[in-house]
Amino acid sequence: MNTDNIVIILAPLQGFTDVTFRNVWARHFFGIDEAMAPFISTMGQQRLKPTRLKDVAPENNRQLPVIPQILGNVSADFIFLARHLYEMGHRRINWNLGCPHSKIAKKHRGSGLLPYPAKIDELLGQIIPNISASLSVKIRLGRRSKDEIYSLLAMFERHSLEGIILHPRTGIQMYEGTSDHDAFEKAIQSSRHTFTYNGDIIDLASFKKVRDRFPNINQFMIGRGILSNPFLAEEIKQTQKNSTPRIERLKGFHDDLLAEYDKIFSGPAHLASRMKGFWNYMGPSFQESEKPLKQILKATSLPAYSDRVEAFFDQNLEFLPKP
Ligand SMILES: Cc1cc2nc3c(=O)[nH]c(=O)nc-3n(C[C@H](O)[C@H](O)[C@H](O)COP(=O)(O)O)c2cc1C
Repeated sequence: MNTDNIVIILAPLQGFTDVTFRNVWARHFFGIDEAMAPFISTMGQQRLKPTRLKDVAPENNRQLPVIPQILGNVSADFIFLARHLYEMGHRRINWNLGCPHSKIAKKHRGSGLLPYPAKIDELLGQIIPNISASLSVKIRLGRRSKDEIYSLLAMFERHSLEGIILHPRTGIQMYEGTSDHDAFEKAIQSSRHTFTYNGDIIDLASFKKVRDRFPNINQFMIGRGILSNPFLAEEIKQTQKNSTPRIERLKGFHDDLLAEYDKIFSGPAHLASRMKGFWNYMGPSFQESEKPLKQILKATSLPAYSDRVEAFFDQNLEFLPKP
């Protein structure tokens, strides 16, 4: 499989793929070309949240180029934030129109906007002429029904977008069921825009399946698959440049991540809880890891967490991500 022209983009995963994760990942693994940052919400009265902006500051993101993502539905606030990001050096910005969480969707943000193509049309008409960065949208097939996509695509035809990242599920589906490849195919046939495929690429086989099905797509966004198998982008790109045993590399990655989060998190409980989030994804990829993983996830103090992680790695379990 020729992967020369393939672009792999790390998906935004709020609570996981922040700048710390992105930089540490890039010190230990290869194959991801760029990352989309977890969303930054627009704020009323044109205020900015400095901590969220720090996440995408180009000087903090030298390892992996980052595309900031905005969540919002008020054009003036969107433009204000997008202009600020442009001044920071960002030439590409993404609009989150896919977030499925009901708290967000109820406020007509994220996937909550998808049933209202006229509203999105109006917002794009106001935003695009007033920002200097190019804008892409990250969408799902719809909020409630897969068929919402068609009026959305017809509306997107009228706008000059950098591209459309499509995760072929509905919002209310959350992460249930599987990504709908038939719906993705119909969508790309109904649009002149450049598409990025996103959804359920978890191993080489699932990557090959989408690659073979959509030969004209060369941008692939991967989220949870990278958390459960940090080697996945290397495996896809076949750029294995490191002969160190995988278990050692994973331990090195884990220890580096823990040390970096230790510098920024105030309390040990917060730190352990952040790290346990990663174990939820990576842990099951080790063979027969159920028991020692449970021990890690039950740890309530940092010393207990560290002891149990040490014990976990000492077992030398085979790293074999589940399909
Ligand atoms: C914990 C979590 C946090 C997420 N945060 C964001 C986000 O900030 N912005 C966004 O557009 N999508 C977000 N997503 C969706 C992912 O970017 C992606 O579209 C989805 O996980 C499907 O891709 P995957 O199957 O490769 O993980 C999140 C998903 C998860 C599971």
